[in-house]
Amino acid sequence: MDDPKKRLILALDVPTFNEARQIVEMLGDAVTTYKVGYQQFVAYGPFIVRYLAAQGKRVFLDLKFHDIPNTVANAVSCAVGLSVAPHDALDTKGEKKTIFAPLFMLTIHTQGGAEMMKAAAEAAHKRAKELGVPRPLIVGVTVLTSDVGTDDTSKLVLERARFAKASGLDGVVASAQEAAMLRKELGKDFVIVTPGIRPAGGDAGDQKRVETPASAIKNGSSFLVVGRPIVQAKDPKVAAEDIINEIAGV
Ligand code: C5P
Repeated sequence: MDDPKKRLILALDVPTFNEARQIVEMLGDAVTTYKVGYQQFVAYGPFIVRYLAAQGKRVFLDLKFHDIPNTVANAVSCAVGLSVAPHDALDTKGEKKTIFAPLFMLTIHTQGGAEMMKAAAEAAHKRAKELGVPRPLIVGVTVLTSDVGTDDTSKLVLERARFAKASGLDGVVASAQEAAMLRKELGKDFVIVTPGIRPAGGDAGDQKRVETPASAIKNGSSFLVVGRPIVQAKDPKVAAEDIINEIAGV
């Protein structure tokens, strides 16, 4: 397998920038990719994205855009340019430096429909070309991992994933329970991002469709999103390394 570290995405779900910075510093090279979600983005906006980029981290912006096609396309264009324009960010010593680092990946909602997804994909291509930077991967949220799975859930996930692929998205966000089906139906290059990851015996919290890191990888997941099992661990670095070892062991 490729570098197992690159399969892990840490959900940086903490309330303050100081806590985010402590985690990033504590985890060091163990974690290469961070997910910025509502909590950090609502509080700190582009600053948090630029801070992570300045640390050499890959950034997954998880704002789950869901609106009319024109509005989502405009939001995606802004996201593509988010950390590309020259700007100042703080490095670990609190010094300012100018960085150029495009986003690695971002989310939109598949429920927004085919037209919205196509507009998002086209906007990303166009803006990345204008800026001369690599385009971020665009993945569509199918059914939240906090939803209880029913017989219809996997059907719905598959239907939405097919629409996402046909609309030009790179992949989807789904639970690891659906990953094997998605991998089989949508091919080896389709990106499957799976939150709801819990090490064996871990507290599920509000997540319902959970899987262990090893079974997520076995099921064909491309990236594992993990938040609380690392962020709230007694020793986050050990927790992250355990998960990476579990991934590497598959
Ligand atoms: O703490 P935990 O590991 O449950 O964090 C999972 C992260 O993945 C959260 O930031 C959550 O917003 C996000 N997410 C999810 N289910 C989705 C899409 C994103 O749990 N379908």
